[in-house]
Amino acid sequence: MRLRTRIVAGLLTGALAIGHPASPGGGPVEGVAAQASARPAYLDAWRPVPQRVRDLMGRMRLDEKLGQMIQAERLGITDPADITTYGVGSLLSGGSSQPTPNNPQTWADMYDGFQRQALASRLGIPLIYGVDAVHGHNGVYGATVFPHNIGLGATRNPRLAERIGAVTATEVAGTGIDWNFAPCLCVARNDRWGRTYESFGEVPQLASSLSTIVTGMQGRRLSDPASVLATAKHYVGDGGTLDGKDQGETNISEAELRAIHLAPFRTAIRKGVGSVMISYSSFNGVKLHANSYLINDVLKGELGFTGIVVSDYNGIDKIDGQPGFTPAEVTASINAGMDMVMVPFAWKAFIDTMRTEVQAGRIAMSRIDDANRRILTKKFELGLFEKPFTDRRLTATIGSKPHRELARQAVRESQVLLKNSGGVLPLAKKNNRIFVAGKNADDIGNQSGGWTVGWQGASGPTTIGTTILQGIRQAARPSSTVAYSKDGNGIDSSYDVAVAVIGETPYAEGRGDRPQGMGLDQADLDTLARLEASGVPVVVVLVSGRPLDIAAHLPKWAGLVAAWLPGTEGHGVADVLFGDTTRPDGCR
Ligand code: GLC
Repeated sequence: MRLRTRIVAGLLTGALAIGHPASPGGGPVEGVAAQASARPAYLDAWRPVPQRVRDLMGRMRLDEKLGQMIQAERLGITDPADITTYGVGSLLSGGSSQPTPNNPQTWADMYDGFQRQALASRLGIPLIYGVDAVHGHNGVYGATVFPHNIGLGATRNPRLAERIGAVTATEVAGTGIDWNFAPCLCVARNDRWGRTYESFGEVPQLASSLSTIVTGMQGRRLSDPASVLATAKHYVGDGGTLDGKDQGETNISEAELRAIHLAPFRTAIRKGVGSVMISYSSFNGVKLHANSYLINDVLKGELGFTGIVVSDYNGIDKIDGQPGFTPAEVTASINAGMDMVMVPFAWKAFIDTMRTEVQAGRIAMSRIDDANRRILTKKFELGLFEKPFTDRRLTATIGSKPHRELARQAVRESQVLLKNSGGVLPLAKKNNRIFVAGKNADDIGNQSGGWTVGWQGASGPTTIGTTILQGIRQAARPSSTVAYSKDGNGIDSSYDVAVAVIGETPYAEGRGDRPQGMGLDQADLDTLARLEASGVPVVVVLVSGRPLDIAAHLPKWAGLVAAWLPGTEGHGVADVLFGDTTRPDGCR
């Protein structure tokens, strides 16, 4: 009798079946039975993930499944208890959505607070929290900010990209965050596009080879403390729009789409990328957010993607080109294969609309279940049920010296020497009179670009790091003179060389589109005129998110270096100007 009861109890929990003690020390049978019914299988970490997913989904109500498909902006949560009540599956911090004050501790405290609300829900399903750590954990003041992808593309170094992915993930995990909306695997075919700097370059081979950054971010196991879920974005063809218009029309053949824009996603999926974000753009007139062929048939079918397909920010609203979402848009997108919906503020209305569409039979329950299976699988794989809170050991690594040294190495390797007449470079460290000018010489915000402590980035001392001018001053020996004038006033023929650090000021997404042309701005032209008039050889350092139209000016320059958007470690640029090619840690 007693044995049979124990067997039944064990079968309930699977404990006896595999020899696990149903309770420590094997309590009385009724205790085992009671314990067996109290502890649901999905909470057993030793069970295979598919079994845990199956058990959990078998317990979920419709509204709990709909809640799991919602990714709300943290600012869209007016009452934290709503996370518990609605079973919200995910939150995000959009580009400028940062806690105040903005530091690693406040981020971690914020994350843990939201997580406690999620765990208080009926089934205690943890939430997954996403950010755009697109060049380091760039939303956090004091974090290491790496060169943007356009610079990493210039390194041609997949191993370096992987290491950067790992360090970025460590700093992201140090604030509790588990999901990174990166890397952008876009292939920028028209530099007028404001997101050119988020791409690794204009050919698919660069995005494919540097998608090693995914491996760095996700680590050997998603459940490792410093691993986060990576996102291949934006699927598909965002970099191929007409005239480089952000969120525009990509009107090319399917063969071109596959060869140029799909190829990096194929590589990232082979590398196990855990999520894919859908592009705002359209392919031959069909919005990607409602493109069942490219999501269901190609991404999930042909490429066999089993992770989470997530929309872009209010991406579903944009399907019909009108503000807000309609039932038709919701149904079109969910049925096209969207699993997680980034609906920052109107998320309660979205749940209501989805429920109506499911109850009307326009969205099949099997589609809702497929989305939940994908979402919950990643949550189990990330270990969120076992370790839902910030691992504070990682918090202290944010902005650390070793991380900054890696970023400095990435800056060195990303510099592109385009002109060096008369051997003006490398600069001599000793007995040299160097005149530094330009709006981007002493500006950490300008050298970091967009997506830096704010969606659009900003000029000025926006975070902690080393400017290019500071790097030049650190490299020059006491026997040399380094003078600085932002606009070039004060230069005279007594100087041996002038270094003009010019280019673009920060922008992101559509605000960076340049349909009118790609020339230098007036401030730079005025600075250059002053320097060129002095007769001193001019070396230009171009800090920009893309190539600019400088052809007419090039003959007047002795040297030209494309620095791209180097991030916080501007001394990496100075290293190259002075010919320091040895790695900071000594190895070449
Ligand atoms: C933005 C971007 C996307 C980003 C998302 C969340 O609009 O298109 O790259 O991941 O919203 O911030």
